[in-house]
Amino acid sequence: MAVYKPFAKSDSKPDLETTQDYTPLPEAKLGAVPDTIPVVEYLETTVDYIPPAGAKLLPKTEVKLKLSPPPPPASPPPAPAPKKVALTHLGDFRLVGKLGAGGMGTVYKAVQDSKHRFVALKVLSQEMATKPGFVQRFDREIRAMAKLEHPNIVHLIRAGEDHGFVYLAMELLTGGSVGSWLEKLGHFSVEDAAHVARAAAVALLYAHEHGFVHRDVKPDNLLISGDGTVKLADLGLAKTAEDTLEGLTQTGIGIGTPLYAAPEQTRDAKNVDSRCDIYSLGCVFYRCLTGRPPFHADSLLGIIKAKEKGVYESAHSVRKKVPKSLDKILSKMLAKNPDHRYASLAEFLEELDFSETVGERLSFMGESKSDRETKDD
Ligand SMILES: Nc1ncnc2c1ncn2[C@@H]1O[C@H](COP(=O)(O)OP(=O)(O)OP(=O)(O)O)[C@@H](O)[C@H]1O
Ligand SMILES: [Mg+2]
Repeated sequence: MAVYKPFAKSDSKPDLETTQDYTPLPEAKLGAVPDTIPVVEYLETTVDYIPPAGAKLLPKTEVKLKLSPPPPPASPPPAPAPKKVALTHLGDFRLVGKLGAGGMGTVYKAVQDSKHRFVALKVLSQEMATKPGFVQRFDREIRAMAKLEHPNIVHLIRAGEDHGFVYLAMELLTGGSVGSWLEKLGHFSVEDAAHVARAAAVALLYAHEHGFVHRDVKPDNLLISGDGTVKLADLGLAKTAEDTLEGLTQTGIGIGTPLYAAPEQTRDAKNVDSRCDIYSLGCVFYRCLTGRPPFHADSLLGIIKAKEKGVYESAHSVRKKVPKSLDKILSKMLAKNPDHRYASLAEFLEELDFSETVGERLSFMGESKSDRETKDD
């Protein structure tokens, strides 16, 4: 058996282990062979070859290989995959369970060791945290938000960074979100829906007066405490996250959630004012009353078009229990043109209170669905 091995240019003879005759090409002929002959890869490695009896070995092309440039250095071995480490602590906070995930990252239930209390810890996804300047802007906004103290706004405890993760610690709300209750119940009683809208409006009015626009008012961002207080979450985050169009479309932050976002926000997410929150709150209120958003379609484009048209079914015609006075209020929240909406949520609150529909407390907290179904339609 003959075994052919690659050999170096300086070899006076090919490194050929064979019992058969081999006649090297004369020097003159070798010199005529260009140095740039492409290397035939499979011949670069040792091959086993059993020549048929009497076969002439090493035809000219194989001799040329002797003059081929040396093979490029082998590519470096792939970097070892990053080792996954189970993360149990971030700063002062011990993670104990996952609460859910959203557009910016994951939310964990955690224990703040120094204070012996449970908190909710929002940990930004690496994608968000590595955006240039994002953490700095995030930090600035958090500092401003920390100044906002309101019973209907989720209280911020601290923002920090540990193990390369940026996190936000806030009060833990154990009563679920308005979104999760809507999923369970379909819709709310008129009194409960008005209670949610009122609490959210009070929180937003306070935020607006302090120069904040939420931009992502939706049922999932209205959380409920164990004692039934409705609190607005994620205030300011949407504003900080809004940097590039690419970022906006990737995360959905800044343009709000399509079902609840104002039409002008879908057109130009950067240039909106507090009236976009009034529109979104109108969508949430309508959904709480009827079980569905005012504008809906199978596709994102369909929703945008429906909002641009501005035509929706009145809440009263979807559910007879909804008083017409609330439809009048909703029409001023859901106006396509921001100039035709309430100028401020103070006006909305005045008219809502006048409608005498606001329940004193959320009736479904602590009740099962069947309890509630016997009370409401
Ligand atoms: N302070 C909190 N206490 C209890 N649960 C919370 C708290 N904050 C968020 N959650 C829960 O964690 C989950 C993820 O929240 P997150 O805010 O990340 O997503 P989202 O509200 O669905 O979307 P978005 O990123 O647009 O706000 C939700 O189920 C929410 O109810
Ligand atoms: Mg949220």
